[in-house]
Amino acid sequence: MTRDVIKEYEARVASGEIRRDPAQEAVLPALERVRRELLAEPVKKGLFRRAVPQPVTGLYLWGGVGRGKSMLMDLFVDCVEVPVRRVHFHAFMQEIQEGLHKARESGAEDALRPVAEKVIKDVRCLAFDEMQITDIADAMIVGRLFEALFEAGVAVVTTSNRVPDDLYKHGLNRQLFLPFIALLKEKMEVRELVSPVDYRQDRLQGQPVYFTPADAAARAQMDAIWHDLTGGRSEALTLKVKGRELELPQFHNGVARVRFHDLCARMLGPADFLAIAEEVEVLMIDDIPRLSRHNFNEAKRFVTLVDALYEGKVRLVASAAAAPEMLFVEGDGAFEFERTASRLEEMQSVDWAADKEA
Ligand SMILES: Nc1ncnc2c1ncn2[C@@H]1O[C@H](COP(=O)(O)OP(=O)(O)OP(=O)(O)O)[C@@H](O)[C@H]1O
Ligand SMILES: [Mg+2]
Repeated sequence: MTRDVIKEYEARVASGEIRRDPAQEAVLPALERVRRELLAEPVKKGLFRRAVPQPVTGLYLWGGVGRGKSMLMDLFVDCVEVPVRRVHFHAFMQEIQEGLHKARESGAEDALRPVAEKVIKDVRCLAFDEMQITDIADAMIVGRLFEALFEAGVAVVTTSNRVPDDLYKHGLNRQLFLPFIALLKEKMEVRELVSPVDYRQDRLQGQPVYFTPADAAARAQMDAIWHDLTGGRSEALTLKVKGRELELPQFHNGVARVRFHDLCARMLGPADFLAIAEEVEVLMIDDIPRLSRHNFNEAKRFVTLVDALYEGKVRLVASAAAAPEMLFVEGDGAFEFERTASRLEEMQSVDWAADKEA
């Protein structure tokens, strides 16, 4: 069965899975164009008449948070009939850096070549979610990497919160990065998704986001929200924090889910929580226990975490042993916790973080 991106969108609207959005509809033809171009037969070229895939102009879809970029990309991936790989850009670049490291260790003269070849081998299309470049090591290799991809006829579809010209903004040695921006603009159609609706906010709107006590019913409600926001898909996201790695095992489309214990009983500090707040739009925390001097270190980390989430305007969905103001009621630290409790209350309000910018 072949599925056309536009028809697939219609089908999902008809089934009630999504709401019709003219801004989203406006970019469907661009996705459908990529899907169709990918179907073209490879052309036999050169002395040995090797079959070379036809180059396909990809799509760079950018816009504010929660507008449906990742949803549209997933829909596109579901419709594509050629080998396609959907990967979080951050995870992809980590894989590339690891590959480069290994290639250099084994003495490869040009480390990028074998790494790029490995990526290209099995795909016709790469779908990158959340392209952003903050790391100088990434900034300095993406140009050659993407050149290799495009040369091999791999089409790239990507989502981003930034217009290409703003990628790696204020980054070190940015002038060396500019050819990459030019390359993107040459090989990809750049489209903004201008929907006025932040659907992620919308989905949580008017819905409880703090469940107490943390019993089976709370878990079921947390599961339902997780499923609603991610479609049940999830991959691990590894964050680099001060040269260390911090893994969030459950992550998809800006939503991460963790157990309180796995986050606050570990030796994590402000830098880790800030990194999470930067990367994640919605953080779901299961099983926040009552806090007291018996788990004072966990409590202290939780306070730091909530501050980071609050500053970063991250949406919090949680199950807890008690309401915020009853979580930490006696002993050292209870007074300091008042601010945290108040923030936890505020973060449950309907329009919390509604004005967040990408
Ligand atoms: N038209 C729609 N109707 C209903 N829900 C939608 C619609 N578009 C998107 N959503 C849902 O809204 C949530 C946010 O969408 P999505 O993750 O695609 O946003 P995004 O543009 O990728 O945001 P970000 O920039 O933060 O990654 C998802 O759960 C998605 O399924
Ligand atoms: Mg997204």
